[in-house]
Amino acid sequence: MNERIAKIKQELETLKAETLQQLEEFRVRIIGKKGSLTQLFDEFKTVAPEKKKELGKELNVLKNDVISKITELREHFTSNEITVNDIDLSLPGNQDLIGTRHPISVAKNEILDIFKRLGFTVADGPEIEDDWHVFSALNFPPEHPARDMQDTFFISKNAENEQNNVLLRTHTSSIQVRVMETQKPPIRVVCPGRVFRNEAISARAHCIFHQVEGLYIDENVSFADMKQTLLFFAREMFGEGTQIRLRPSFFPFTEPSAEMDVSCSICGGKGCSICKYTGWLEIMGCGMVDPNVLESCGIDSKKYTGYAFGMGVERMSMLKWQIKDLRLYFENDVRFLRQFNSVI
Ligand code: PHE
Repeated sequence: MNERIAKIKQELETLKAETLQQLEEFRVRIIGKKGSLTQLFDEFKTVAPEKKKELGKELNVLKNDVISKITELREHFTSNEITVNDIDLSLPGNQDLIGTRHPISVAKNEILDIFKRLGFTVADGPEIEDDWHVFSALNFPPEHPARDMQDTFFISKNAENEQNNVLLRTHTSSIQVRVMETQKPPIRVVCPGRVFRNEAISARAHCIFHQVEGLYIDENVSFADMKQTLLFFAREMFGEGTQIRLRPSFFPFTEPSAEMDVSCSICGGKGCSICKYTGWLEIMGCGMVDPNVLESCGIDSKKYTGYAFGMGVERMSMLKWQIKDLRLYFENDVRFLRQFNSVI
């Protein structure tokens, strides 16, 4: 028996396992089910009692040595399984595909950012609205076409009282009504959000799109304040040399009202296919808040005045990046989306 123990000891000392497989073979040969050391443990039962103490100790020590050697070598193999020689350093690395912001979000964030710098805060509101917040509080007359199924998506219509109608908001002016109802002037907010209109989908129109509207109410707010704020906005958004012009227009909730154009940033005002050879691009509606609207929302129209404006985010983004078809925004083709790699 001593001889066999000595042989195992020697085998352990001279062990030269170069691969994991060789190490495994060694393990099976020594401490596997029929391994040489396992056999010695089996035979141990038949050893004379006086020799048991010493021999038992020796066998146990040997077994522990074998196990710790195997563990040590195994760790060595597994941690060094890939050696420098195995790596082809000329191979290209694994590219991490990081998502990009949607161009609508990029444009919206840019718009909000400009107004935030002027002290505007951002307000939010529900997409499913009632008639009051979308139409009535905003001075829409009862027969206004926007109140028609042709233009607006209704969720429920109340035959007796039109004010109980539930609908999808057609503009984010509804958020401004909510702000005026709950806050006291001075009010300075921008309201981004999705809006819904019953329109046929084409390259220039969609039934779902995004708006950013703004509202400023305080004492002595004038049309000139609005003009200067919107000029600042236009130059930040479309470049320093941008000019603006205001054309008279009509909205039920503003008086006077205007459409604002910016000089075409693509041709510099000379005329091109984007501005239809006019040199100008229409970008938003604006005006002084109608006193009826202020009163509907509980604000004293003798003390306070204010201006409001609203723009389509898709339109702003189309003009900024010269995107010709609105539907691209909703198809979500990654080849299109990947081009707008922005951090804001
Ligand atoms: N609410 C208007 C729209 O949806 C935009 C607008 C806002 C116009 C504020 C004037 C003042 O078209």
